[in-house]
Amino acid sequence: MKTYKIAVMGGDGTGPEVTVEAVKVLKAAEAKFGFKADLTDFDFGGERYKRTGEILPDSAIEEFRKFDAILLGAIGHPDVKPGILEKGILLKARFALDQYINLRPVRLFPGVETPLKGKGPKEIDYVVVRENSGDLYTGTGGFSMKGTLHEVAVQSAVYTRFQVDRCLKYAFEYTRKYGKKARGVGKENTLGLVGKTNVLTYIYDLWERAFHEMGQKEYPDIRRDYYHVDATCMWMVKSPEWFDVLVTGNMFGDIITDLGAITQGGMGIAAGGNINPEGVSMFEPIGGSAPKYTGMGVINPLAAICAAQMMLETLGEEKAAKKIEDAVKFVTANKMKSMAAGKMGYSTSEVGDLVATEVAK
Ligand code: IPM
Ligand code: MN
Repeated sequence: MKTYKIAVMGGDGTGPEVTVEAVKVLKAAEAKFGFKADLTDFDFGGERYKRTGEILPDSAIEEFRKFDAILLGAIGHPDVKPGILEKGILLKARFALDQYINLRPVRLFPGVETPLKGKGPKEIDYVVVRENSGDLYTGTGGFSMKGTLHEVAVQSAVYTRFQVDRCLKYAFEYTRKYGKKARGVGKENTLGLVGKTNVLTYIYDLWERAFHEMGQKEYPDIRRDYYHVDATCMWMVKSPEWFDVLVTGNMFGDIITDLGAITQGGMGIAAGGNINPEGVSMFEPIGGSAPKYTGMGVINPLAAICAAQMMLETLGEEKAAKKIEDAVKFVTANKMKSMAAGKMGYSTSEVGDLVATEVAK
């Protein structure tokens, strides 16, 4: 039997509560699909930081390297200055483990409300491949004359050809495998590059050249589109059905995927994967730690469950992943009243039970 070593990091606020439900569903899938998830808990997060001053030590990163994947709840604590835990845990893990892809599906499940008028699951069905290792996130910068009237702040966006190429390769391969034609819901598999070639004439010039070179040479079967990022925001609202797979840099990807998340029903349902195709990947619900709902049993666990679903898909347990996706769709379509915390018509653990029961069927 195939065994996967999974590191579970519930983290802060409602993170641990939703992670428990994701694990519940994982266990249901394990029994049914004949693999084993060997889970190890890690308590990194705000509480541990407050208690010990430790954020995410290098030894933990070394430990993580021995796992097949990491399942993360949420990071962020009301008593800890914003940025410390996000940088020290989330970004540290992403960079140290070289999780250079941030995969963020924007899919509206049946029965889920979207703020986009007249759009349904057929229209809101695309994926953003966000580069996760470069851009403004790793660019150098600093202040000079800080605190004076002449203060200067600089923060540079940085991309290497290597970073761009490996991200594009992942995006093209992903499109070939999971594009709209491959999934039987469209005529073509399309990869759209989201950039800003009219202003960021170095960074996105590099992206655009690399995109067409690779596409022409190695992926002639995949249609290539280009969109400026500002226009992309308009089309994400007006005509999301145009999109299939989008690929973009780290900063634009961060911004447009929050817009995408709200169109798919909000933070209760949106999941993401920080993927190192050759290494250890980390999967997370992309909503925050929601401190005000902590311990009340009202938070929506579906995003965490979808994170576990993506984890199984990435690990190669495609059948189990498909089953979980179908189970989530069944529950959103037939059971839950809303995706919002406290308005689901069920408690956090009841939602987990509903999905687990469907998976076990
Ligand atoms: C995300 C978050 C992070 C990011 C923050 C918390 C560092 O917004 O995962 O999108 O900017 O990548
Ligand atoms: Mn973000």
